[in-house]
Amino acid sequence: MKVQDTKILVVDDEIGYRKVLSNALTERGFYVKTAESGEEALDEIKKQEYHIILVDMKLPGNIDGLELLQRVKNLYNPSVLIMTAYGGIESAVEAMRRGAFNYITKPFNLDEIILNIDRIIAQQKIIEENKYLHSELEKVYGLKRIIGSSREIQKVLNMISRIAFSAATVLITGESGTGKELVARALHFTGNRKDKKFVVINCATLSENLLESELFGHVKGAFTGAIKDKKGLFEEADGGTLFMDEIGDIPKSVQAKILRVLQEGEFIPLGDTTAKKVDVRIIAATNQDLLKGVQEKEFREDLYYRLNVINIAMPPLRERKEDIPLLVKHFIEKYNKKANKHIKGISPEVEKEFYNYNWPGNVRELENVIERAITLTNEDRISVNVVLPLVKKEGNPEVSENELFAQPYKEARRKAIDSFNVKYITNILNKMNGNVTYAARESGIERQYLQRMMKHYHIKSKEIF
Ligand SMILES: Nc1ncnc2c1ncn2[C@@H]1O[C@H](COP(=O)(O)OP(=O)(O)OP(=O)(O)O)[C@@H](O)[C@H]1O
Ligand SMILES: [Mg+2]
Repeated sequence: MKVQDTKILVVDDEIGYRKVLSNALTERGFYVKTAESGEEALDEIKKQEYHIILVDMKLPGNIDGLELLQRVKNLYNPSVLIMTAYGGIESAVEAMRRGAFNYITKPFNLDEIILNIDRIIAQQKIIEENKYLHSELEKVYGLKRIIGSSREIQKVLNMISRIAFSAATVLITGESGTGKELVARALHFTGNRKDKKFVVINCATLSENLLESELFGHVKGAFTGAIKDKKGLFEEADGGTLFMDEIGDIPKSVQAKILRVLQEGEFIPLGDTTAKKVDVRIIAATNQDLLKGVQEKEFREDLYYRLNVINIAMPPLRERKEDIPLLVKHFIEKYNKKANKHIKGISPEVEKEFYNYNWPGNVRELENVIERAITLTNEDRISVNVVLPLVKKEGNPEVSENELFAQPYKEARRKAIDSFNVKYITNILNKMNGNVTYAARESGIERQYLQRMMKHYHIKSKEIF
């Protein structure tokens, strides 16, 4: 956790202490609020979660420091630092027993408080990192997550095992929903970088400037709004892997900088003067034809060859229909668990339907169909009348709020944003009779960015009416 993101609540009835602490901590960049009593502190905590709470043991009213500690710990798990007068050490020790981080006797000097806060932040950082590692590992048992018995998938799995331990750049190509990200994760988590970070960036959904500052970071003052130094994702991924999704959408100016990282292993943060060295394995993915981009001079040829050291081409699902039964079984188990159901499988008619369908959205579409079918099915098996309306629909179907809320936050947010973007862009283009320049001006979206989003969501300006 960074200093600026750390919220501290100071609870003390003496205005002198509140002022001194609030000033000193604000000056160091923390977000600080104060409260005079336990009651007020609880009100404040209900409004927002504080990471660190400084609590005086003796407080007016019905809630003293010990009681406040107890109540706060029942709500969530912030780090509580106790402040106590010299005579109150016994109860401070009791507070420690009940989960306070430490206690400090009054009068204290500020350094002591700061030292404790630094320790808390260091500790919270370790907890965060562990959580991160855990959740990333959970999402991935590497190869085992990739389901399929077809020769095509077996070839992909072999390839992954062969190259996971190399640092060579990999380009994963394939239609949307074929499992490109899954393969990228498998490469990272089966290789020797697995204890370092796997960082993902979606190059299609950021404007040119944002993309640059996300990737390379910036120093304070590099541009209006750069109020502090910011680490870029290349640095974040140092020692690990950077997964650059939708690499085909990178503007040319950024392409040159990425090439430099690939060639020299270094980059210069925005507004900085010296280069930074990093050791990052790059895995890129695209569902576009990059070679066509090269021919049309939209994608640098030298970058293309640097990225395409190893190519993994994900076959579309319609070319490996023998994988459908295994995938169906896998997704039924997954969503049974989620919905707490015991559906056994699909009916023979559904099997036939699935076999005949050509799955434009590939495995992701199959997964979505199963997920929805499970929520709609109350029998032993998923029947064809449940499935038909789900597979015949083209394009990006609306997702209901209930469905969204049943999914992990990240996934839900992505779907909500996608659906919103499609609606917003279609609407503004309609309003401007399909004129992209006008639409960009009207909406305040950078024109190039709008165009990239249109490409990403397959929205064509002429087709709009
Ligand atoms: N072979 C597979 N086995 C199990 N699950 C798979 C497989 N292929 C894809 N999936 C699942 O399908 C979904 C889409 O996969 P993924 O996100 O990797 O696709 P993608 O190729 O990156 O798509 P896009 O180009 O749209 O980003 C994920 O939920 C993934 O877990
Ligand atoms: Mg993807």
